[in-house]
Amino acid sequence: MTPITAQAIAALDGERLWADLHELAQFGARDDGGVARLTLDDNDIQARLWLAEQARELGGDMQVDPLGNVFVHLPGSAPDLPPITTGSHLDSQPTGGKYDGAYGVLAGMAALRAIRETGIQPRHSLEVVSWTNEEGVRFAPGTSGSACFAGVRSEAETRALTDAEGITFGEALDTCLARLDDAGVERRPLGTPMQAFIEMHIEQGPILERRGASTGIVTGIQGVSWFECEVRGTANHAGTTPRAARQDALEGACALATALRNVACDDADRLRFTIGRFQVFPGSVNTIPERVLFTIDLRHPDASTLGEFEARFQALAVQEWAGCTATLTPLSRIDPVTFPTGATHAIAEAAGELGQCAPRLVSGAFHDAIHLAGHCPTGMIFIPCQGGISHHPSECINAHDATAGARLLTATLCRLACSP
Ligand code: GLV
Ligand code: MN
Ligand code: MN
Repeated sequence: MTPITAQAIAALDGERLWADLHELAQFGARDDGGVARLTLDDNDIQARLWLAEQARELGGDMQVDPLGNVFVHLPGSAPDLPPITTGSHLDSQPTGGKYDGAYGVLAGMAALRAIRETGIQPRHSLEVVSWTNEEGVRFAPGTSGSACFAGVRSEAETRALTDAEGITFGEALDTCLARLDDAGVERRPLGTPMQAFIEMHIEQGPILERRGASTGIVTGIQGVSWFECEVRGTANHAGTTPRAARQDALEGACALATALRNVACDDADRLRFTIGRFQVFPGSVNTIPERVLFTIDLRHPDASTLGEFEARFQALAVQEWAGCTATLTPLSRIDPVTFPTGATHAIAEAAGELGQCAPRLVSGAFHDAIHLAGHCPTGMIFIPCQGGISHHPSECINAHDATAGARLLTATLCRLACSP
């Protein structure tokens, strides 16, 4: 182990990390113990301002790019070299937990603090980033900040997204940027070069817990397609319209949803299919539904299999459903990625130095790293979460694993930041 790694690991403060996780969880805290910190809402802005204070205390600069991605920057001894960046996201699900995203940002801060305390300056600058709108709940699709940063989506199309109240992403973003300007956060351009990106996250699944491992090395992320399905029928009086004359959009939507669910199964149980939002219009007790909107989240680790199911879904949607018509509109499509062996290898070597077994696994959840993989060598580290439960207020990790993960991140960053 190099002196910088040994000293940084010794300096890593697991108790501070644990306390920070619970302090951050106050922004958007729910009565049930969970967190609701929706993209660019007041809680999300407060969390960013809190991160700016943490950056100042660390002695780093905080910068924000045109998408609201915030970066805590610690200069290296060769400041012209691209930085080694780590981080994740601060937004949450509406009924989210304390650790999804937040753990990756705060483990990154803990690692930078530990490296700074060694007094040894690595060659590459180090950065912690929080990407805007990873979850895609208030504004769909998600991973907005990282997708625009990596040039996968345009700033203009992202600014035009609207939330349920008709507020555009651009309007909400401008409010946030003004608050960050007032707090003295500097602006920086989008899509700046990076030497490497390492994202730390909770697993959000059961594998590491079952293996009894405190850390895992992520080899890739499965692909994901989001659709919006619209079913159109005819509104009419609930009490008078006979069965044969009805074109009930809810009846059609239920029939189509059931058909999709029946198609969406594979022998190996690798395909994931979820209808997470279902809206009925006009939403009156005594009017036959005229229109139903529902979302589809479809995932598979293999791009061609994902494509086959997408085509089967489209073929079903063009049929007639209880006398109604349906259209399936793609909202986003992200191909699966396999992380480059260089990044995975650096994490594995660091795990070896620390004596961590760190099994390898593929991520079922998507992460901002899925886009960064097209921008620079990218890798991910997981820690287990209790019962594999996530996107739920009861999402839980333990302090031992949180520290083990932050140690592995620190050792990986030391290795990457000191190399040419
Ligand atoms: C990320 O939040 C995902 O849905 O995988
Ligand atoms: Mn996440
Ligand atoms: Mn999430």
